[in-house]
Amino acid sequence: MSKESEIKRIAVFTSGGDAPGMNASLRAVVRSASFHNLHVYGIYRGYEGLIDGDLKRLERRDVGNIIHRGGTILKTARSERFRTPEGRKMAYESLQAFDIDALIGVGGDGTFTGADIFSKEYEIPMIGIPGTIDNDLYGTDYTIGFDTAINTAIEAVDRIRDTADSHNRIFFVEVMGRNSGFIALNTGIGSGAESVLIPEVDTPIEAVIERLRLNTRRKKLFNVVIVAEGNKYGGASQIAEKVKEQFEYDTKVTIIGHLQRGGSPTCLDRVLASRFGFHAVEGLMKGEKNVMVGIINDRIRYTPFEEAIGKDKKIKNELVRMAEILAM
Ligand code: F6P
Repeated sequence: MSKESEIKRIAVFTSGGDAPGMNASLRAVVRSASFHNLHVYGIYRGYEGLIDGDLKRLERRDVGNIIHRGGTILKTARSERFRTPEGRKMAYESLQAFDIDALIGVGGDGTFTGADIFSKEYEIPMIGIPGTIDNDLYGTDYTIGFDTAINTAIEAVDRIRDTADSHNRIFFVEVMGRNSGFIALNTGIGSGAESVLIPEVDTPIEAVIERLRLNTRRKKLFNVVIVAEGNKYGGASQIAEKVKEQFEYDTKVTIIGHLQRGGSPTCLDRVLASRFGFHAVEGLMKGEKNVMVGIINDRIRYTPFEEAIGKDKKIKNELVRMAEILAM
């Protein structure tokens, strides 16, 4: 009997920070698996629920009317217990108790770091689906939730622009991105911000001040600076404080925060999530294991967990340069 025909029961979970579109990927997993006559179990609260054996059978109708909903109906968690060998042993025992042959996990780098360790310790085929608003995973051009998050962020910045313009103020707007500037850079370009500060590019405070002075000399009376939360010189509040010490101007700070994690997924995210869910199941059936499904130049690719978490996804220098030129 070939390996793929041995897979009869799969389990799916969402883990780490939720992202709009995770539900669309769950729907795709459940329906694609049903098409192949597989039984699907949903694991609640990510690795935490796996350790606790919190699994429930999911049928086609259980994932009806969720494609448009943000968050994740399976809930999510960042599991400390799964970092321990004891926790992972309990997780494996749960899989055995439910007779699960393969796993599909939707999440980001933390999720796949756990998956990489788990798949080396235990014999259970696993496929990861990239679900994080940060878009910081190697092996895929886009992750689920990123498009929705940047659209939410530019909508917020558009509103801030109106009031910033009316009062001649500098706004420092902080967006998410613990270690990466994909959200900030795209929000900056898409909203026409005057400066973008991201972890990947070293922009000292002096350079920010210099740009603001120049803008004032050019009679540009309001400025919006987008700051990625993981920026090396601090978040928006810290940057604003430092700027104020040397540059006299009315300065305000807005932290968009978890607003950008919620909301109904954009069509792009729904389609992306559906493709990932579908190809995660198809991949398992074809014998793929311990890989993350991704999309590169619009083609489905499978990347080993080790690479997806170990290699850096680079910010495009062309975009950084363009953002600076267009803001002048
Ligand atoms: O989902 C990734 C992310 O959005 C990061 O950009 C951010 O730092 C983090 O999640 C916040 O997570 P939490 O909800 O656990 O505070």
